[in-house]
Amino acid sequence: MTGRFIVFEGGEGVGKSTQSRLLAEALRARGLEVVTTREPGGTPGAEAIRALLLGTDGPGFGARAEALLFAAARADHVETLIRPVLARGAWVVCDRYLDSSRAYQGGGSGLEDADILALHRIGSAGLLPDCTVLLTLDPAEAASRVALRDAGVLDRIGGRAADYHARVAAAFLRYAQAEPERFAVVAADGAPQDVHARVLAAVETL
Ligand code: TYD
Repeated sequence: MTGRFIVFEGGEGVGKSTQSRLLAEALRARGLEVVTTREPGGTPGAEAIRALLLGTDGPGFGARAEALLFAAARADHVETLIRPVLARGAWVVCDRYLDSSRAYQGGGSGLEDADILALHRIGSAGLLPDCTVLLTLDPAEAASRVALRDAGVLDRIGGRAADYHARVAAAFLRYAQAEPERFAVVAADGAPQDVHARVLAAVETL
């Protein structure tokens, strides 16, 4: 039997990496083999693309080049890590995936959703998660968590204006509403263990 593929999505500072770790620990405690990973990145090739995308040296990329690079990083990640892990029956818990491209390069930067999905079809044969957990948080609360975590040092995309991030958050919610069978929307306010309990309830059926 193939493993399950669970993704955490949401804006900056909502707690995706903490919740990925807590979920992986809970699944391991039930005897499952779990691999945690992240995007952009997760493999040497994709981490190299991550450095290109998020580094603040140089002029950066336009929205189309950015979307292609995210799709290329994802293609390498899917082919060399995610599919082989799922095929051997282990679970994958990933911090960000396709819906981040849809929300940032689509909702934030204005590319067509159909184009982003086409890149995903070409790059990754359209592989979708079994469950996408969308963590939602009040923007002011998220901003203060980011300020604590990153001490004011922002990457190229995280540092974009508040209205960009508001479009990203709205886009995530639209995708979740359009595909309720693939998404679980989980409120990310409160203590990490409280959010973790909500996440576990959301993925219980898997
Ligand atoms: P990361 O450090 O993982 O951000 P966070 O800690 O907020 O999860 O950096 C990833 C950044 O890249 C983040 O700003 C979102 C952005 N991103 C996209 O724009 N498109 C994508 O497809 C992905 C995976 C990430």
